Amino acid sequence: MAIIVCPKCAKKHKVNLDTVRENVPLGKNIAARCKSCGHKFPVQLDHLINQEKEQTQEVKKTIRKICVTLSKGGVGKTTTSVNLSAGLALAGHKVLLVDTDTQGQSSYILGKKPRAGLTELLTKELAPEECVVRARKNLWLLSGGKSLAGVKRIIDRKSFGAEWTLSEAMKDLDQRYDFIIIDTAPGWDQLIVNVLFYATEVLVPVALEVMPLQGLSEFMKSLGSIQKYRKEIVLKYIVPTFMDTRVKGPETIYTQLKKLYPEYICTPIRYSESLSEAPSYGKSIFEFAPGCTASSDYRELVRKVTLDASALL
Ligand SMILES: Nc1ncnc2c1ncn2[C@@H]1O[C@H](COP(=O)(O)OP(=O)(O)O)[C@@H](O)[C@H]1O
Ligand SMILES: [Mg+2]
Repeated sequence: MAIIVCPKCAKKHKVNLDTVRENVPLGKNIAARCKSCGHKFPVQLDHLINQEKEQTQEVKKTIRKICVTLSKGGVGKTTTSVNLSAGLALAGHKVLLVDTDTQGQSSYILGKKPRAGLTELLTKELAPEECVVRARKNLWLLSGGKSLAGVKRIIDRKSFGAEWTLSEAMKDLDQRYDFIIIDTAPGWDQLIVNVLFYATEVLVPVALEVMPLQGLSEFMKSLGSIQKYRKEIVLKYIVPTFMDTRVKGPETIYTQLKKLYPEYICTPIRYSESLSEAPSYGKSIFEFAPGCTASSDYRELVRKVTLDASALL
């Protein structure tokens, strides 16, 4: 689809380029007649085709699908998913947070009790718009929870194409958002494989409290095995979490991480009591303690993710 504007009366006309392409050779001019004022004028087909290309590129540019994952639990996956989503929403982007964990923590943190969520989307029990709840301005939630355990069994029983189940379910829904942030459960199962077949960018939170490097390199191997079948999924961000500047250990691990993965490493999220307190108030860190260190750290992460021009290509 392209748009031709009449040079005389400025009326805009939609044209179906497929029909035009069949009848006009490239490089040729088309004689167009304005249906509104009757004015006749020449239009270059190449120009219209470029216009169409730009439009499709724009649509692709605007949807970014970032999954937050690492097989280890308690590293800050859910905290990062929720606060990154909340921060992006505050910055004016339309965000859908997808919780693929049976614990269903994301809705709790955002103070929501959705009646439906990802389970109903995957089982097609409800229409996509009925599965999503609005959590804040610009922020929507596709919640997880216990019922996802049953869905995993359904996915496991599929004889082929099981890894595309989530992608198929999301395809009518994700076009409405700028960012899709996907929180994952610890461990490695069919649902995580589905997430890695759906997302295009991976964000890995790494807790600086305990020796994290082994878990990270194991995850890299698993990711590599997925990339053989799905080239679009790439590691983009390693976010150090639980950065405690009062003790030496975290700083040392951070320095090691920076050396090993300089292209992915982000500014650390500092250890902050507020981060563990905010969920029981149903608030993001920006609502609960906007002035705290963790709030400015997550704001910095939001900035990095939004300004990442290479992701837009
Ligand atoms: N930077 C941080 N400082 C202090 N507590 C944190 C921080 N990040 C996360 N937490 C707390 O640590 C616990 C585990 O974090 P969570 O995000 O649930 O990890 P995961 O989703 O990887 O299991 C939660 O209670 C959370 O509130
Ligand atoms: Mg979690």
